Amino acid sequence: MADKRILLIIGGGIAAYKSLELIRELGRRGIASRCIVTRAGQEFVTPLSVSALSCEKVFTDLFDLDDEAEMGHIQLSRSADLIVVCPATADLMAKATAGLANDLASTTLLATDTPVLMVPAMNVRMWEHAATQRNIAQLREDGVTVMDPDEGAMACGEFGPGRLPEVPNIVAEIEAQLAAAASVQANPSRLRGRHALVTAGPTREPLDPVRFLSNHSSGRQGYEIAKALADAGAKVTLVSGPVELAPPTNVDFVPIEPARDMLAACEAALPADIFVSVAAVADWRPAQAANKKLKVKDGDADAAGTLKLVENPDILATLSRKKKHRPDLVIGFAAETHDVEAYARKKLKRKRCDWIIANDVSGDIMGGRENEVTLVTPDRSEAWSRMSKDRVAEKLADRIAEHFRGQGPAVLAAE
Ligand code: CTP
Repeated sequence: MADKRILLIIGGGIAAYKSLELIRELGRRGIASRCIVTRAGQEFVTPLSVSALSCEKVFTDLFDLDDEAEMGHIQLSRSADLIVVCPATADLMAKATAGLANDLASTTLLATDTPVLMVPAMNVRMWEHAATQRNIAQLREDGVTVMDPDEGAMACGEFGPGRLPEVPNIVAEIEAQLAAAASVQANPSRLRGRHALVTAGPTREPLDPVRFLSNHSSGRQGYEIAKALADAGAKVTLVSGPVELAPPTNVDFVPIEPARDMLAACEAALPADIFVSVAAVADWRPAQAANKKLKVKDGDADAAGTLKLVENPDILATLSRKKKHRPDLVIGFAAETHDVEAYARKKLKRKRCDWIIANDVSGDIMGGRENEVTLVTPDRSEAWSRMSKDRVAEKLADRIAEHFRGQGPAVLAAE
């Protein structure tokens, strides 16, 4: 990863000393660090030691005339491939969430159009405080990557989440972010002219006007895939069951509830070049949905006690078996708890799709922000290391672009 540069903002926390190790490790990999040390950060590391390790001038003050003459703060904010805030204190994250710009670090974060990675470290109570969690959720919504802190004994004697992640893990995340930014920069519109259809979230199968059968799908992975494909230039139709996420701004969004509506919306969206079926479609639905609320006292409970279910349509299998308008590349998901690859391979054949993304959901994957998947195609399988769901999405978008590379103009670009 030679010739890459980060802008490292060192906040004020006991973990600041680890930023020195980070600078050295990055340097060994050919990644240069230009550094800003906040006023509080200077209580923990000196600009002199940061400068000695980074071999660069260190920036500390927004109103330093010499610095401004050399490199204005706006220019500084855009002088790197990635901005890394490490350690990201509760205070720095709160400022960035609110859009404050009253010192060099916060002004830089507000003025930049470069991707930002925050590496938090703080006392466990501060980390768990509703205000910090609210700020982190907002930062993620705004497109900032916020790593999860490690859990363990803290310098202040308490125990819990809040420790700075280990330096090798921070280095790995920085390299992943730099690689993702480089692939987008190299070819920002590599899927231009392609139409991608993505399903996401759960479906809701009504029992009566107020009750339904559903599942815990958060929709996060599907939304990230829709965004990554749209960022790669594809026209994207996202058909989604109810989730708590805001849809990406650059997709055509079709909200649905029952599986049959999801199928109808998908068929209406055809033709498409790419179909990625991420939704956790309910396998069954109540045979009949009452049009009035079922009442316990009127004996309806008997009916509910023997709830009759019928099978829902398999949307993935339906679209991949289409004679007319079968998408060129059909990708299914397989959530398994054991024998992941073997089941995925069977599913690939049974549902006649081209690729399966198999994930092991025996751990804490569901609802979380990370995923560990294996890409299964008819002739190979590729295990990807555990990474954030947005990275999985970007990597999948890369693979999809590779698949279409050299195939000439889009076959079916739906308008
Ligand atoms: N899928 C679908 N329609 C359904 C059920 C599943 O489109 N009615 C899609 C999912 O979006 C996913 C893939 O099929 O891409 C696999 O879903 P999964 O629930 O794992 O498979 P099942 O068919 O339910 O098989 P099993 O329960 O045996 O694992």
